[in-house]
Amino acid sequence: METKNINLGIFGFGCVGQGLYEVLNRTKGINARIKKICIKDPNKPRPIDMSYFTTDADEILDDPTIDVVVELINETDAAFSIVSKALKNGKAVVSASKRMIAENLPALYQLQVDNKVPFLYEASSCASIPIIRNLEEYYDNDLLNAVEGICNGSTNYILTRIFEDNMSFDEALKKAQELGFAETDPSLDVEGYDPKFKIVILLLHAFGTFVRPEEVFNFGINHLNDFDIQFARQRNSTIKLIGNCRRQNGSVNAYVLPHLVREHNLLYDVYNEYNGVLLESAFTDKQFFVGKGAGGTATGSAVLSDISALLYNYRYEYKKIKQSNQPAFTNDVQLKVYVRYKTPDQVNLTEFYNISEKYESPEYRYVVGTINLQKLKDAAWLKNKEVNLLVLEH
Ligand code: HSE
Repeated sequence: METKNINLGIFGFGCVGQGLYEVLNRTKGINARIKKICIKDPNKPRPIDMSYFTTDADEILDDPTIDVVVELINETDAAFSIVSKALKNGKAVVSASKRMIAENLPALYQLQVDNKVPFLYEASSCASIPIIRNLEEYYDNDLLNAVEGICNGSTNYILTRIFEDNMSFDEALKKAQELGFAETDPSLDVEGYDPKFKIVILLLHAFGTFVRPEEVFNFGINHLNDFDIQFARQRNSTIKLIGNCRRQNGSVNAYVLPHLVREHNLLYDVYNEYNGVLLESAFTDKQFFVGKGAGGTATGSAVLSDISALLYNYRYEYKKIKQSNQPAFTNDVQLKVYVRYKTPDQVNLTEFYNISEKYESPEYRYVVGTINLQKLKDAAWLKNKEVNLLVLEH
């Protein structure tokens, strides 16, 4: 097949930008070269020749010789305006900005339709795992029932250090930051926002349903304490932060919540910054994808794969949107959970549908019971750091 040569204009030269630079340099035979890199701070020392850099976005966006814009910056609003302008200017765009994409999916879809240009973002969800393209191509007509997995490298790294090395949460988070896995604001990782953005993106490609991130409940690992860790260990389990979207009774529900995961579960053995995605469909039962979910070159390799796909005119077709049976989104689903707290006034147990286990000691209490996801999403009592939540395996 004949491919073209393309000139790249890159926005951002942080962890992923530098990872892409390295991956591009070491990949022989790719017909793509970096023409310009737009950065915010011209005074910051850079590891490559300064002639690559500009601080003027229009030097890329208005350059007719630049075919592809690669957007790898941190700021959501700025990223959206760069991507919009590039698409309106007829340039193909590759992005890794999960938050920006998740928050603007309907507009980004329309921009592609109106301007007839591709927008690819494989790196935005589970970094090196080629999950979006698989959902688009392989599962285009498949009766998918569920997409669930570990979609955040930092929290999986932290949980691995806690469970494997008895490291403290703060120390493990510091290491995840040093290794370049965490977001600039790490609360996005540890409170489960980052994996939620990824789930919102995957949900669209799996089921054709647009969901706003604020409709999806996320609860992270920052309330975890030694008692919870002990609880998991006593049950031969570990704890994983899992994003889930599942078709049930004609609707689709989604959430990101810490789960108790037993040894037989494929996600149990996903360690460090690796992510794992389990697909369930009507005819194939379970399929499992695993790969690095964070880090410069792992993410850079997914960006490179998108650039490479543009060389043969690949674009997402959003086939599930065009099919007629997209499920509506709902939070009306029951979950079996463990809730740990200190004093009875800290939780509202009347909101539980049923309670099957209760534990009390002078220091901690917990219940195991069933509760509606919408009730959890609305529960002000879950904001208290002395209260923690774990989903028990379904
Ligand atoms: N902070 C993200 C993570 C980076 O830890 O997964 C990759 O999206």
